[in-house]
Amino acid sequence: MLAVVPPPVTVRAPAKVNLHLAVGDLREDGYHELMTVFQALSLNDEVTVAQADEPGIEVVGDGADLVPDDASNLAWRAIEALAERAGRDPDDPRVRVVIRKGIPVAGGMAGGSADAAAALVAAAALWRMEIGRDELSEIAATIGSDVPFCLHGGTALGAGRGERLVPVLTRHTFHWVIALDKGGLSTPTVFAELDRLRAEGRPPRVGSVEPVLEALATGDPRQLALLLGNDLQAAAVSLRPSLRRTLRAGVDAGALAGIVSGSGPTCAFLCSSADAAVRVAAELSGAGVCRSVRVAQGPVHGARVIGGDDTP
Ligand code: C5P
Repeated sequence: MLAVVPPPVTVRAPAKVNLHLAVGDLREDGYHELMTVFQALSLNDEVTVAQADEPGIEVVGDGADLVPDDASNLAWRAIEALAERAGRDPDDPRVRVVIRKGIPVAGGMAGGSADAAAALVAAAALWRMEIGRDELSEIAATIGSDVPFCLHGGTALGAGRGERLVPVLTRHTFHWVIALDKGGLSTPTVFAELDRLRAEGRPPRVGSVEPVLEALATGDPRQLALLLGNDLQAAAVSLRPSLRRTLRAGVDAGALAGIVSGSGPTCAFLCSSADAAVRVAAELSGAGVCRSVRVAQGPVHGARVIGGDDTP
């Protein structure tokens, strides 16, 4: 009798921006204690997982040449971790993974984490696993700090190293312009630069998170714009001084405010409406300060099967 080969599963997972990112002390495990507010944005990667006798991973799209296509890829590590939970051989999970990049690579928008979250959801559906979101989230946290959020989506408060999440309710869609820079920045290097700046002096620190949560509850982008903040921004700008010019150009183009996204170098600009975002994007692309510009909105949902109802 012929074995039935399950159809491939494709999952879309979102990028994130940190509306508020307070970086605390360096912990003994090498991570920093964080208090952050994540928002999932409509820039996506798509990951297809298919059963295959010859396992492998392929990455296509903008920046694909910078992404590892071996077992060090976060999506592959996620598949291995899930295979173990499924009682399959983690060294031979018998799947082929194709990643289509829409999220800037090494851009501070959790592109690798989105791929891992998507791979978890896709493999769980392919293998018809009975696994809840909570357990997937626990596995996600072992792959990377931002992976649970990419699974979860929406807007959420993140604590610990960013993996402990509490959903935040928002009554509003926020409109963003995303400025992609040439080349990426390494997250550990940016955290290390912040440690260095703090050892030397007093780089700015964000205020408390409560006003940010209040602004999200009212849904007023003008109020939120005043409160956007990222402790990693000083470190990203120190490593990439041209970001100062990009941030200024976005506000000159009519954005309400701009911040470095996570560890950068991508910059995110909050705009007052969808129309305003299109205008800001057009003007910013003409300013010659960045590689390319995208319009996005948030919050959007987390990693989900496309065109199917197999989401665990
Ligand atoms: O968890 P993830 O692998 O995404 O983190 C990448 C790196 O970023 C860590 O190895 C660490 O250097 C830095 N990091 C940190 N504190 C956090 C999250 C990440 O120092 N809370």
